[in-house]
Formats: sequence, C-alpha cells, structure tokens
Amino acid sequence: MTTQTRAPSATASLAQRFPPGFRWGAATAAYQIEGGVDADGRGASIWDTFSHTPGRTLGGDTGDVAVDHFHRWREDVELMAGLGLGAYRFSIAWPRVQPTGRGPANEKGLDYYSRLVDTLLEKGIQPIPTLYHWDLPQALEDAGGWPVRDTAYRFAEYAGLVAERLGDRIPLWLTLNEPWCSAYLGYAAGVHAPGRTEPASALAAVHHLNLAHGLGARALRSVAGDDVGVGAALNFHVPRPVDPSSPGDLEAVRKVDALANRAFLGPMLEGRYPDDLLDDVAGVSDFGFVHDRDLEQIAVPLTALGVNYYASCLVRQHVGTGPKETADGHGDGASPWVGADDVEFPATAPPHTAMGWNIDPAGLTELLTGLATRYPGLPLLITENGAAFADRVDADGRVRDADRTAYVRRHLGAVADAIDAGADVRGYLVWSLLDNFEWAYGYERRFGIVHVDYDTQARTVKDSGRWYAGLLAYHEAVSRARTERD
Ligand code: FCB
Repeated sequence: MTTQTRAPSATASLAQRFPPGFRWGAATAAYQIEGGVDADGRGASIWDTFSHTPGRTLGGDTGDVAVDHFHRWREDVELMAGLGLGAYRFSIAWPRVQPTGRGPANEKGLDYYSRLVDTLLEKGIQPIPTLYHWDLPQALEDAGGWPVRDTAYRFAEYAGLVAERLGDRIPLWLTLNEPWCSAYLGYAAGVHAPGRTEPASALAAVHHLNLAHGLGARALRSVAGDDVGVGAALNFHVPRPVDPSSPGDLEAVRKVDALANRAFLGPMLEGRYPDDLLDDVAGVSDFGFVHDRDLEQIAVPLTALGVNYYASCLVRQHVGTGPKETADGHGDGASPWVGADDVEFPATAPPHTAMGWNIDPAGLTELLTGLATRYPGLPLLITENGAAFADRVDADGRVRDADRTAYVRRHLGAVADAIDAGADVRGYLVWSLLDNFEWAYGYERRFGIVHVDYDTQARTVKDSGRWYAGLLAYHEAVSRARTERD
C-alpha cells in the first residue's frame, strides 16, 4: 500500500497538534493474535482452558489459531513498517516462556520474541512488550491463581527470565495489562478467565497483581539496569453521575473510582490503598493479605503510565428493591463491582460502538488532565484506544470503515486537547493492529485497522489504517520541518 504524504487539511492540522518525538503505534496481545498454542513447548494458559469450556465465549471461539501471528509475524512486521508505525506494543505469553509458570526458561519460547524484537528494531519500530496480558499459566491457576500470594513471586521470576534475554533491547516495559479485568472480571464476575465468582478472591487478586507489578518491575531493573523504563497499562473508568446534584450519585462515582482506578493508582504511585476503598469493601475483606513492606515494594518509580481508554460510563445510586441497571457491559450475572452493591449503571446515550460502549472523547481529555494534575511529572502513554464496528469488505476489496477513522480522529483530538492543557502525553498506540480474538466475544468484534479474513488469514489495510498511516507520515514531515527550523 502507499501512504499519503499530502494529508487532507483536517488530518494535517490534527498532526500538527502533536509535538516532534510523539510516538505513534499499534497494540496487540499474545493470546488474541498468536495461535500456535502447542508450538515449541508452550504450556496451557487460563484462556486456553476458559475458551475451551462450553458457553464461555461467543460461538465457542478460541485462540487456538487466532490470526496465526505466531507463524506470520514477519509479514505482520512488514505491514507495520508499511504503515509507518514507530512503536509496537505486543505481549509476551508467559506459558511460552515458563510452560508451567515456574522453573527455568523455555529457550524456544524466548527465541520467538527475541527474533520479533530484532526484526522490529531493524525496521525502526520500538518494541513495547507487556509481560502479562491475561494469559496466566494454567498450572499457576491450579495452584490458586492471582488470589494466592505466590503467583506474584512467580511473576517476578518470569520477568527476570525475560529481561535476561531481551533486556538489552527494550527501552520500555509494561508489567501488567488492565489488572482491573484480571481481578474483577476473572475472579468476581467470572466473564473472563479463570471464570470464578468469588468477590473476596477478586480483592486478593487486586493486591497480588499490584505486588506482581512491583516485584516484576524490580526484577526487570535488577537485570536490565536501574534506568530501564517500566510502566503498567491500566484501564481507567470515567464514571459520570446521572444527577450531578445527587449526593447518592456522587457517592456512586466515588465508589467506582476507588475500585477501578485508585485500587491500582494508590499502591503503584502513592504507596497506599485508599482509606475509602478499604471502608467500602470491609464487609468482603479486611485486606489481611497485605503484608508489611508490600506497599513499599509496589510503589516503584514509573517511567510512564499506560492509559487504556475506550468509553465512559454512567452511574447512580440504586434505590428501592427493583432490579438494578447493569449497562456496564458485564451482564446481569455476578457483579465485578465488589462492595458496591448499591451502584447501578444505566444505559449511556448513543452513539455506541459494536461493543455497546459509548463514544465520549471528552472523557479521555478529562482522564488525562486529571492524571496530570494528580501525578505531575509522570509521563503518560495511550497504550490502547480504538473501536469495534461491523466492518464489511466491499466488492473491490476495500474496508470503508469511516466510523473507526472518525473514532480515532476524535480521540486523538481529545489527546491533543489534554496536551494543550499541560498533560505530558508521549505517544498513542491504537487498539488494534489486526482484527483478533476479542476475549469472551470471540471473533465477532473487530478492532483492527487491518482486516483479517479468518478463513484465509489474508490481511487488508482498512481505510482507517490508510488514514492513520497518512497522519503519521504527515506528522513526521511537520516534525522534521520544525526540527530543521529550530
Ligand atoms: C481491552 C484489552 C484488549 C482488548 C480491548 C478491546 O480491555 O486490554 O486486550 O480486548 O480491551
């Protein structure tokens, strides 16, 4: 494909709003794209087990083959280079490196990522690996999973093994992806692997994921050097009150913010759990799993904070005995919102994406400026943002996904607004490079800027991908002109 260097004026002026050096890229995760689940000694993960359990994923879809990136990674790196990406966020599958989650490294598993990293670097694409994007080795879940403290130590051991092999080539690591999902969707709502519905276990998982982040970051730095970049990718919730003048609705906002955002920001960046969170969940857990010095271990200095943002949500206090509204996308089964039984999630106003998520770019600006105010001096990186829509391949082979382009364009405008307001945002990684296995939604939901035909594995850059490539090319041109001028 060819990239356009003469972008239309709206795109041109958008590109100009980002400073030289701003990183543009795309993101993926191992279980969602790789396939090759038995290749080179890979062990089973909780997502293998979960997706193979009847009724757990839409259509019974699994990641067995996914988009076969395990075999097609060279072609996919070429695709990234063709788009002009400057960064690629991917995840390393723990069960490829340690098939049972403990013991020595499976060198073949590491070879795979080592080749990927070398090839990315040859193309001038910065590799940004995530160590944990939800694929816990099944053997560790059998030993208790994230509710068990030992899992955090196992993660640190795994982080050290990966750093020994790749540490000389990686400037920025991400420890965890969206621990909110791992803990609450995996262990309270049961809609993600391992599918447990145990609220107290979910809170223990929150802490052990935080501990894994801290111990993992220390392991990375002890192997790769103190100045190696380390961050985490969190999925922030932006709750809006139905009635901003209702104390009950404002209380609902506070509870969701505590459980979803401050349960991770507090320990990671402030070395403490918020008091109000501990009060809210006191009926479920006394947080006795927090040992002396854990919080010190967790609060390692972060190089950048990864921000995953898709949508905002609407909350209010539930009054009366009628059914609660649960339009937060987690159905009416067990709730992920531990200790927040009186919070309900009414339906948000349209427009929505194919996930049923609302489109609210202003929420991203508010989130970024809020984080910048609360944590001055902490660089921010958009580690995921994007949208699923029902794409159609036209007779001429093109995917005219104007709705996805508009989504990305508007969210980039929102990022630029935050930068204008003083937020130190260093880059943007669109979710996702390729259509892929969207967890419990299987292959039904497409997020890629590149279309994948799941029968033939053929890749076709969508119109959104062409637009993105054009924006990047334009940004590079204006940055070069600016640098030469200064
Ligand atoms: C995020 C996940 C990512 C992808 C997007 C749509 O929650 O981190 O893997 O599924 O949502």
